[in-house]
Amino acid sequence: MVTLEQFIADRQQEFEGATGAFSKILRDLSLGAKLVSFYLRRASLAGFLGELGLTNIQGESVQKLDAMANRLLINLFSKNPHVAGLASEEEDEILPLNPDGKYVVLLDPLDGSSNIDVGVPVGTIFSVYRRLTPSGTPCTEADFLQGGRKQVAAGYILYGTSTLLFYTTGQGVHGFTLEPAAGEFLLTYPQVQMPPQLTYYSFNDNQLHEWAPGLQRYVADLHAHNRKAPQSPSLRYVGSLVADFHRNLLKGGLFMYPGTLKKPEGKLRLLYEGYPMAWLTEQAGGKATNGTCSLLDVTPTAIHQRTPLFLGPASEIDRVTAFLNEDVPVEAT
Ligand code: AHG
Ligand code: MN
Ligand code: MN
Repeated sequence: MVTLEQFIADRQQEFEGATGAFSKILRDLSLGAKLVSFYLRRASLAGFLGELGLTNIQGESVQKLDAMANRLLINLFSKNPHVAGLASEEEDEILPLNPDGKYVVLLDPLDGSSNIDVGVPVGTIFSVYRRLTPSGTPCTEADFLQGGRKQVAAGYILYGTSTLLFYTTGQGVHGFTLEPAAGEFLLTYPQVQMPPQLTYYSFNDNQLHEWAPGLQRYVADLHAHNRKAPQSPSLRYVGSLVADFHRNLLKGGLFMYPGTLKKPEGKLRLLYEGYPMAWLTEQAGGKATNGTCSLLDVTPTAIHQRTPLFLGPASEIDRVTAFLNEDVPVEAT
């Protein structure tokens, strides 16, 4: 049995020398995961469901539990001397914290908000960068707008039938399961690889008529293939990115949330959702794109910017992008 604590300690040297700063951030994330998990499991009994009555910077209604997870994680990190600042999907602006901190943290505190009230799995997504601005000064937006390839850690927590924490620091993807009695995350998924075959596909097709024509042809091709092949891929869509991504990571699946004619930038957030999931995907052997280029190569311009998102096995991402860019002749479909 290897605990998350032990696993991090064993790898601390390879990552940052012996300062322990980065390890402390991961420890805070795991503590946050345990606390959020604790509150989520009691929310319906404690009457802690429903909307808060506020709209966030994303223009979305804030749920009480969105606000709880956001507040709890901000409180945790504000006491961490190594964290120079935090950006959250739920906060209008960046939050400068400790000027002497070496890292900045980005959070989607609760992902899958529309599923909270119906007991369906939700998650937390995190992404960590080494700050660019000098130590001793307040961090600035530039520290958060470095681009996906500059992440030093990224991962997610899934609050499902069990609470799972999966992360990467660029040395593969490793997954841990919370053992509730011991209160410890134990290593259960070392060195995760996404299976190369397409077992599942996951997308909300309610705006399919608004998608690029090539993408509509891709979906038609998928369905045509399903009519012919008995072992064809199946649709699975939860509506919580963390849950959909997690299943596809373990089973081999495509997740997509494209842009539409009216909203070419799509729905999901580049910094809080796109980059972390893209890095995990690449580290597990898959591919991540915005339909035009590798997602991690997209240059960010604003902390709350949105992006079309395609994550999955490399060969399927190549197929989607070929359709999207109209590289597949119409008669071939
Ligand atoms: P959040 O709850 O953090 O705002 O994210 C919601 C996201 C994501 O979890 C999911 O993939 C997507 O919204 C689902 O959107 P649709 O309901 O439009 O399918
Ligand atoms: Mn989200
Ligand atoms: Mn969220």
